[in-house]
Amino acid sequence: MSTTKNSMVTVLFGFAGSYRILLVLSWLLAGLSSVLSIGPFICIWFVIREVFRVLPDVVQAAEAAKFGWLAVGLAVASIACYFVALLCSHLAAFRVEKNMRKQAMRKIVDLPLGYFGTNTSGKLRKIIDDNASLTHAFLAHQLPDLAGAVIMPIAILAVLFIFDWKLGLICFIPLVLGLVFLQRMMGGEKAGFMNQYMDALEAMNATAVEYVRGIPVVKVFQQTVYSFKNFHESIVRYRDFAAAFALECRIPMIGFTMSIHAPSLLLIPAGILFVSTAADYREFLLDLIFYILFVPVSGSMMNKIMYAGESIMVAREAVGRICEITQEKTLAEGSLDKPINEYSICFNHVTFAYPGKQQPAVFRANFAVPQGKTYALVGSSGSGKTTLASLIPRFWDVGEGSITIGGVDVRDVKEADLMKKIAFVFQNTKLFKTSLLDNIRAAKPEAGREEALYAAHMAQCDDILAKMPHGIDTVVGTDGVYLSGGEQQRIVLARAILKDAPIIILDEATAFADPENEYQIQKAFEHLTKGKTVLMIAHRLSSIKDVDCILVMQQGEIVERGSHENLLHSKGVYAGMWQEYQTSIAWKVEEEAAHA
Ligand SMILES: Nc1ncnc2c1ncn2[C@@H]1O[C@H](COP(=O)(O)OP(=O)(O)OP(=O)(O)O)[C@@H](O)[C@H]1O
Ligand SMILES: [Mg+2]
Repeated sequence: MSTTKNSMVTVLFGFAGSYRILLVLSWLLAGLSSVLSIGPFICIWFVIREVFRVLPDVVQAAEAAKFGWLAVGLAVASIACYFVALLCSHLAAFRVEKNMRKQAMRKIVDLPLGYFGTNTSGKLRKIIDDNASLTHAFLAHQLPDLAGAVIMPIAILAVLFIFDWKLGLICFIPLVLGLVFLQRMMGGEKAGFMNQYMDALEAMNATAVEYVRGIPVVKVFQQTVYSFKNFHESIVRYRDFAAAFALECRIPMIGFTMSIHAPSLLLIPAGILFVSTAADYREFLLDLIFYILFVPVSGSMMNKIMYAGESIMVAREAVGRICEITQEKTLAEGSLDKPINEYSICFNHVTFAYPGKQQPAVFRANFAVPQGKTYALVGSSGSGKTTLASLIPRFWDVGEGSITIGGVDVRDVKEADLMKKIAFVFQNTKLFKTSLLDNIRAAKPEAGREEALYAAHMAQCDDILAKMPHGIDTVVGTDGVYLSGGEQQRIVLARAILKDAPIIILDEATAFADPENEYQIQKAFEHLTKGKTVLMIAHRLSSIKDVDCILVMQQGEIVERGSHENLLHSKGVYAGMWQEYQTSIAWKVEEEAAHA
């Protein structure tokens, strides 16, 4: 999303809340400070004029001291104004930064859960952190300077022409040229530069994280950094982009720098040229000294304009990126607040495609799981099983059709209610880095210790707890405490058992556990699913032989349904899968026999 300059300021004002008054105050004070900063130069002009008037008897210059003090006073006032302006801008900037983070975080809580599959937590954290900090720098420092950069040219223009219009013109023309070069450097197509620059930077950061995660793989296969093509390419892309831009800016940058320093260089020859035609050479010399002293102020103003221009591009981009999160579509909260009293699940011609994808991941799914029954979902990898199941707790909302629980559309149910009714065991759950007790209690924080221990017992976790140094209080991930994939599955099942929800959705881990673990997981499943409405995604076909109905998925569609026996008889997709499964089991048994 691109924000225009105006809308960016509006957005920032919105984030500032009641502190926006401080922003306005900071601009006014910074502007005042800029104008005041011209004062001392004018005072010096008066001092020199006074000195010239009484020459050679300098002691007679009584007025000089007065103007000298006035210069000091104005300089101090200018600094004081700037100081207070910065104080205000910092207070406002901190508030804006805080509100940005708060709103983005609050938004994240309301986003569809599926969003976090596509946007990793690391990426989200980085977007929020980085861009909030970038806007902070802009608001706290560059915005007050920008106020100066707007007011100063007008003041400087007036001052330049008041004293001697010819010398004024010599100072003014290079400054206009400088602005033209600045426009060439930053305006037009270059405005899109920041967008590409940040994209390149973001891509490099993201692939760097991926690279660090993949180091074990790289090491195991004895590869070099170049094997990590994405990372390498993103660095090259960034380098090429930055280098090309720097080269392109070379000429305008040289032009700009020369323009802002040109007046100092031109004033001396111009002075020598004009002095002979001046009506009063003393008056003329006085003006010349003033211009020589004053012209660096206009140079530094030009620099401020350049930096402010750059920071506007950065801030606009940063605000845009934060807004991408805060304007992300959230799921509408079920406003009807209908209660669920019955736990059958019904898919009515459900079609769903992931955001930005044409091809639906689920296509016209139409089936019903009666209350208390267990249905299994099978199909090849990528056929849409996880996607279909995750539509029930509204990880995403369906594109077409509807899903009802006990006859109530899931979109009409309050989120908290819906979540209370469903226990979802994910395909690849990672445990939190906290105690096993808290891991189990994550689904029901108010549960007592005894209750959690009982759930762990039912999920066949006794042997896991027995070998942990502090039993159920052992913190996962510390002191070399790690759980195998199968053990983690059982802890997650204990969590689901503790939740005791009437609807269970199980996404079986793809990895095969060892036979002992597999047996225990099977037993834990049985405890968990007793009397519940269950939709289970199965990879090991042996575990679903006895379910009430098997739904077979292929490329997002349910292509077959029925009991194990019926499906075998019909010799369709499922029969083929069963055949393959039997062969793979036979291989596994042979392999184990060979190793024994
Ligand atoms: N977050 C996502 N964004 C975009 N596309 C996705 C996302 N998650 C999955 N997909 C795509 O949707 C399709 C179905 O994926 P899904 O995870 O539902 O398959 P699956 O049947 O569960 O596979 P597996 O057996 O390997 O777990 C795939 O083509 C996949 O690439
Ligand atoms: Mg899956």
